Amino acid sequence: MTAAEFVAGLDAENQNALRGLEPDTTLKAEVSGALNVPNLLKVALRNEIEATEIAARWLVATDDARVKLAFARQVGDEAKHYRLIAERLKELGFDPEAVDPLAGGFGPLFRYLDSLTTTVERVAAGQFTREAIAVVKNRQFIEFCERVGDRATATLYRDVIEPDERYHHELGRSLLLRLATTDDAQASATRAARRTLELAEELQRKALSTAGIHHAPGC
Ligand SMILES: [Fe+2]
Ligand SMILES: [Fe+2]
Repeated sequence: MTAAEFVAGLDAENQNALRGLEPDTTLKAEVSGALNVPNLLKVALRNEIEATEIAARWLVATDDARVKLAFARQVGDEAKHYRLIAERLKELGFDPEAVDPLAGGFGPLFRYLDSLTTTVERVAAGQFTREAIAVVKNRQFIEFCERVGDRATATLYRDVIEPDERYHHELGRSLLLRLATTDDAQASATRAARRTLELAEELQRKALSTAGIHHAPGC
């Protein structure tokens, strides 16, 4: 298979799996209790710092200049998202300094991504797949913000954060087109993408059952 055929196939497989995360199929809104924008933004802070950290680790772990620059761009964007979300929390009356986003240590998806050793797996999992998940989750979060009347948070996500996450996904696509050129590379990229989707689904299910959290934004 050529890299182009492979990437098109992986994209289709991912999009198909992501339909399971669409708001109106599994996640009919059950807005109650502590499910509100500030609490979801606190979940977002954790996602953003994890996304910053993993891209930074991968930046220093490669000698390929194009890959380095792709991760560098992502590090900057995810750190910017963290700052913008912290500022929004402040506007909503919460002290972002009081939140330690890594108090519970790194989560299972981060630990899985950190265990990947080749660039093609990292790009398939961390950029191409994780960022595709983020685009879906952020769309759900924007809808949630609008439903509860928080226009400012919806606008922040629609105009700034979501376009960046989409760009990270596209960076993943362009790197995969360059790197997924052999059967071995394609097989490991597929494995990494599938595991990322599984972990994201597991985490979403767990968040839903333990904390009633859905519509949490992604990275
Ligand atoms: Fe991102
Ligand atoms: Fe982000």
